[in-house]
Amino acid sequence: MFSAIVSALHLLALAIGLPAVYLRGRALKGRLDREGFQRLFAADSVWGVAAGLWLVTGLLRAFGGLEKGSAFYLGSRLFWLKMGLFLLVVALEIWPMITLMRWRVALRNGGTPDTSPARALYGITHAEMALVVLIVFVAAFMARGFGAH
Ligand code: HEM
Repeated sequence: MFSAIVSALHLLALAIGLPAVYLRGRALKGRLDREGFQRLFAADSVWGVAAGLWLVTGLLRAFGGLEKGSAFYLGSRLFWLKMGLFLLVVALEIWPMITLMRWRVALRNGGTPDTSPARALYGITHAEMALVVLIVFVAAFMARGFGAH
């Protein structure tokens, strides 16, 4: 039963993560007034929750003895591809994460954040969205034994 719950949570991360990253991109492209910032930060927070959920449930599924056992995943080229792509998303996220945190702090302190990187952050957000879609395909092939040694 635990494995079913963890599996459902792993898929729920996708259900909330993909719309969140799309909406964060839209907010970055739109006008960044008070409501614009609110939309941006709400989407950004949900995107963060999805990332955490992916990592915790993914690690449990891979190494918590819930599915096919660690040996299956460690021996799968597609598992490593999936991890590489996930790490790429995490690496791409460093700059947006720091920048949006700075914007939050600036607004909270009554200041005006420098939003000149918004366009570049939109590009990164879009790339992250494409990577998540790619990861879903890699995951589905991995789960069916493709890429096993
Ligand atoms: C962007 C991040 C991620 C996405 C979009 C994603 C997506 C998916 C999807 C759609 C499946 C179901 C595949 C299927 O049954 O057809 C799956 C399964 C799985 N994922 Fe992820 N995942 C992500 C991150 C992770 C991470 C970080 C880990 C491990 C550290 C992980 C480990 C697993 C494992 C072990 C399975 C079970 C495969 C099986 O049924 O044998 N995932 N993932």
